[in-house]
Amino acid sequence: MIKLNTSFLWNFINKENFTNLADKALEINADLNNPAGTYKDFTGWVQLPFKSEKIIEKINEAVSELKKRADILVSIGIGGSYLGAKAVISALTPEFATPKVIFAGMNLSENYLLQLVDYLKDKDFALCVISKSGTTTEPAVTFRILKELLIKKVGEEEANRRIVAITDREKGALVKMADKYGYTKFEIPANIGGRFSVLTPVGLFPIAFAGFDIKKLVEGAAEMAKRSSDETNFDENISAQYAIIRNLLLQKGKNIEIMVNYNSRLHYFAEWWKQLFGESEGKENKGIFPASVDFTTDLHSLGQYIQEGQRILFETVLNITQKPEKLFIREEEENLDNLNYLTGKSVEHINSKAMEGTINAHVSGNVPNIVIDIPELNEYYLGQLIYFFEKACGISAILLGVHPFNQPGVEAYKKNMFRLLGKPGV
Ligand code: PA5
Repeated sequence: MIKLNTSFLWNFINKENFTNLADKALEINADLNNPAGTYKDFTGWVQLPFKSEKIIEKINEAVSELKKRADILVSIGIGGSYLGAKAVISALTPEFATPKVIFAGMNLSENYLLQLVDYLKDKDFALCVISKSGTTTEPAVTFRILKELLIKKVGEEEANRRIVAITDREKGALVKMADKYGYTKFEIPANIGGRFSVLTPVGLFPIAFAGFDIKKLVEGAAEMAKRSSDETNFDENISAQYAIIRNLLLQKGKNIEIMVNYNSRLHYFAEWWKQLFGESEGKENKGIFPASVDFTTDLHSLGQYIQEGQRILFETVLNITQKPEKLFIREEEENLDNLNYLTGKSVEHINSKAMEGTINAHVSGNVPNIVIDIPELNEYYLGQLIYFFEKACGISAILLGVHPFNQPGVEAYKKNMFRLLGKPGV
């Protein structure tokens, strides 16, 4: 199981305050677990890992059919329709491997699209277009351009067989297109919002196409869900504990939480987490600002600020505890680089000492650290981690006094953009 290590925290928060909030957090947890609870229209993700068997089978079947036609999948989507799959695929794919899944539709960069079109010209590709609303501009623009390329390359009939649409059951333009052209279709349940949707086809389809075991991913999530399904057991419920810790740190003026990794494969996991907490909590002038760093890389850029800048920060460290040591420092006779003191030590060992040293330095510098121990970087533990954060996010936002599942602020830029673009009716 993943574990919450709170040993670096108790100089910053009062244990009694922590315990005093336990009942409140458990009450919120029970309300989220209740299919008829306060947020019933948004909490489809809570029980989802226990009932995903059939959809996993359907996705795996569709993926193996699609793989007969295409080597590369372009997954088109933004926000919650992008970050979950990107996070899991990046965490599991070896560095420097040729990607099987390419992401698009998460920006409006003409340069990105032009280069993608060029890259895809001589490739056998398929498209997976993901949008709950079915109307989001970034993926819609991207889909139109890539669909045209695909049709030009393989003809309309074959193109339609290579397009998968993941969207709402009935709302939005995408479902209409899917029905008209006969694209393979997967539904995003109405009661699961974008940033909570990674364990629906939104995340599972691209992850399966990338070659990863979505059954294991969901099993991990189910294991974590069990830990918060006994609604009186606070010790087991690490999501509730993490939510309380964040709340108490915010009360102490710790307004920014930095997610830290010491393994670059977790870079996009932090991007997913930032959206989850940022969109869920950042409203009504409240919320902790979620940020992230890749260490040790960013110790040479942001390390100075974290150590000595405004004391408004705390860190949450993702620590992969299994450290396979394979690359060792060998002795050199000349020792001009003065590294012989490391002879026989692995790079992994040096990295873990960097982590220990950094945590101690930051904690001494008045930056509280929460450490999350992850036994291994695989589907099962990523599933646990995803569910852990989703549940914690729901509890944390409600403790803070905001609605975790809406995002009214996202509309402001869209209104301006549509007005400037002259969209009819705006
Ligand atoms: O979490 C959310 O709801 C948002 O980030 C959406 O996922 C994002 O805006 C994309 O929306 P859609 O899936 O409707 O295209």
